[in-house]
Amino acid sequence: MLAADSINIPSDLLPSDGRFGAGPSKIRPSQIENLVKVSGTYLGTSHRQNTVKNEVARTQSGLNKLFSLPKEYEVVLGNGGSTAFWEIATFSLIRDRAQFLTFGEFGSKFASSAIAASHLGGQSVIKSEPGDAPEFKAEVGIDAYCSPHNETSTGVAISPYRPAGADEGALVIVDATSAAGGLAVNLSEVDVYYFSPQKCFGSDGGLWVALMSPRAIKRAEEIKASGRYIPAFLDLMTAVENSRMNQTYNTPALTTIFLMNEQIDWFNENGGLNWCISRTSESSMAIYDWAEKSNFATPYVVDPKKRSGVVATINFVDDIDATVISKILRRHGIVDVEPYRKLGKNQLRISVFPAVEPDDVKALLKCIDFVVAKLNSSQS
Ligand SMILES: Cc1ncc(COP(=O)(O)O)c(C=O)c1O
Repeated sequence: MLAADSINIPSDLLPSDGRFGAGPSKIRPSQIENLVKVSGTYLGTSHRQNTVKNEVARTQSGLNKLFSLPKEYEVVLGNGGSTAFWEIATFSLIRDRAQFLTFGEFGSKFASSAIAASHLGGQSVIKSEPGDAPEFKAEVGIDAYCSPHNETSTGVAISPYRPAGADEGALVIVDATSAAGGLAVNLSEVDVYYFSPQKCFGSDGGLWVALMSPRAIKRAEEIKASGRYIPAFLDLMTAVENSRMNQTYNTPALTTIFLMNEQIDWFNENGGLNWCISRTSESSMAIYDWAEKSNFATPYVVDPKKRSGVVATINFVDDIDATVISKILRRHGIVDVEPYRKLGKNQLRISVFPAVEPDDVKALLKCIDFVVAKLNSSQS
């Protein structure tokens, strides 16, 4: 029996960059090089002065362009990542009852936050098993419809939409943490499209960004005016007011903002969101096509329309242990293709955000074929 430790992948098969993680994800060298160039004038300077405020303005105008934001939408940002935004939405956006689509870990966590909030009424949760996604059912009295765009834990993506028959003022709130910048979206259907920058935007975590419609801002204003107790850190109107001045409520990580801006500019210079989507589609289709043809792997998500273009999850037949494959890959610098820890599948999860070169994805697939062939030959 050939021990996994003795399997060595030839160096000419290896991808040029081995980072395929679901976030923090690949940061391109030029992002870091440009950060180093401003390290003496930007890093370590006050976030209340123009040097940093201009970077925040750069984020806002860059995202405006990237998403062709509908008129009067605003780019709002603050600290704490998408996890903080669930609590912000619970205090500052949901009036009483929201409907949640839950089809994996992240959508469920947001629903749990709202369910636990004693100031809200009974929440509506529509659930499907991991690997699938449910649909909204418009109900009178629901004031917010909430769903992930891409469920990072399972590799299922939906197209965000406003459910037919929703109450006139109801909000559509979309967790785009791993989707924004890599998947198509029609923002005229969405009131709040929020994300963190450590996925498609090739930056570090800790920040949240929300693209907000006038209807969503009006809701936050109304809730604040109602006198509801809102912890200061979770007060969305405070974030809106600071963002309008190109600032954040409390001190942000300046590196995170700069690295994100480098990525946004790179996207815009190369053709914008359509260019990003063409890259993620090429990469993800290469994986799904390969798995469909393989005799040891299959796409985990059965319905091709629900397969994510940014996070591909691939199941392996029982007699091939995906954990062994990921360990061998990791020894060769190919990292973070392990499945989501709580999903418990014999699976690899390969994230293909726009920074990942499609050719590197194809190289990764050749490496997996090589490893599996070696494992099989050791068993025969
Ligand atoms: C879909 C989704 N939502 C929310 C989060 C939480 O984001 P953060 O860690 O930035 O709070 C993640 C993180 O992976 C995610 O993938």
